[in-house]
Amino acid sequence: MAADPSALDAVLSRLRCPICSASLRRDDRRLLCPAAHAFDIARHGYANLISGHRRHHGDDARMVAARERFLGAGHYRPLSRALADLAAAHAPAEEGVLVDLAGGTGHHLAVVLDACAPRYGLCVEVSTPALRRAARAHPRAAAIGADVWAPLPVRTGAAAVALSVFGPRGVAEIERILVPGGTAVVATPLPAHLAELGRLVGGIGIDPRKPERLAASFRRFERLAVERVTCRIALGRAEVRDAMAMGPSARHLSDDDIERAIARLPEPTEVTVAVEVSVHRSQRSGVAPLPTGADEQHGRDTIDSG
Ligand SMILES: C[S@@+](CC[C@H](N)C(=O)[O-])C[C@H]1O[C@@H](n2cnc3c(N)ncnc32)[C@H](O)[C@@H]1O
Ligand SMILES: [Zn+2]
Repeated sequence: MAADPSALDAVLSRLRCPICSASLRRDDRRLLCPAAHAFDIARHGYANLISGHRRHHGDDARMVAARERFLGAGHYRPLSRALADLAAAHAPAEEGVLVDLAGGTGHHLAVVLDACAPRYGLCVEVSTPALRRAARAHPRAAAIGADVWAPLPVRTGAAAVALSVFGPRGVAEIERILVPGGTAVVATPLPAHLAELGRLVGGIGIDPRKPERLAASFRRFERLAVERVTCRIALGRAEVRDAMAMGPSARHLSDDDIERAIARLPEPTEVTVAVEVSVHRSQRSGVAPLPTGADEQHGRDTIDSG
């Protein structure tokens, strides 16, 4: 799909300066606030709103390329579909953008945007190779470089829907950026998810208490829906390699370990997809400030093996 240079302009009024929280305006290849804090717009079309020292770099080029191929082959199509259906069904009537936190290449966001026209989307990511793709994911998608564990450069009450798919998230910031009655659509892996691959390399597996922890982190929200996306997919060796390369095993295992494990597999290998998608509605009314310390105490979650 062709990149639309106006997607960033369309969401600009929803963004804020990461240093002083003031509004931003575009000046050619930069975004500027009234205090002259300036942020580059990359040639690829995303705005880099990371200020100061960069604490996380996110997925590297190899992981992102593997994820792009894996998603492009359609293996998570039922998941994208469930996200799109749930986002469309539970989005509030209010105006607001769709913010995809740690949105990777923007793959799921693009499917959700098709179901939620004419809303615009905003992919928030730290990984440069992911941002390059996310900026082109959909004509109504913009992408910004920002750390989801830090205060987001997104204005309070700017988002109708916050998506979080297998990524890190800070629930207090989700609550702040949502419009009153806005919804968070969250996908997390169940213990059976890609478990065949985890077992193959002696991985640590998925915490069975994850759904419980997620519910606790969204305790200030009303839970509107929970759906399980489960299916079996048949993967060739190259696809198994991609599934491993895009997940946590890529960080812990050597290429040789992975290749030895893959060589033992039948082709194709059947693998389980098992993901829980839940929808949580913000109970906040108006734009009253959140309780002090909410950011620290309130639901931080880490990266999943998506
Ligand atoms: C498992 S991937 C999921 C990507 C995407 N949501 C998807 O499902 O295709 C996790 C993503 O989180 C990003 N990430 C990691 N730490 C981050 C942070 N602190 N802020 C923003 N993104 C982060 C990584 O770069 C990676 O793209
Ligand atoms: Zn500023």
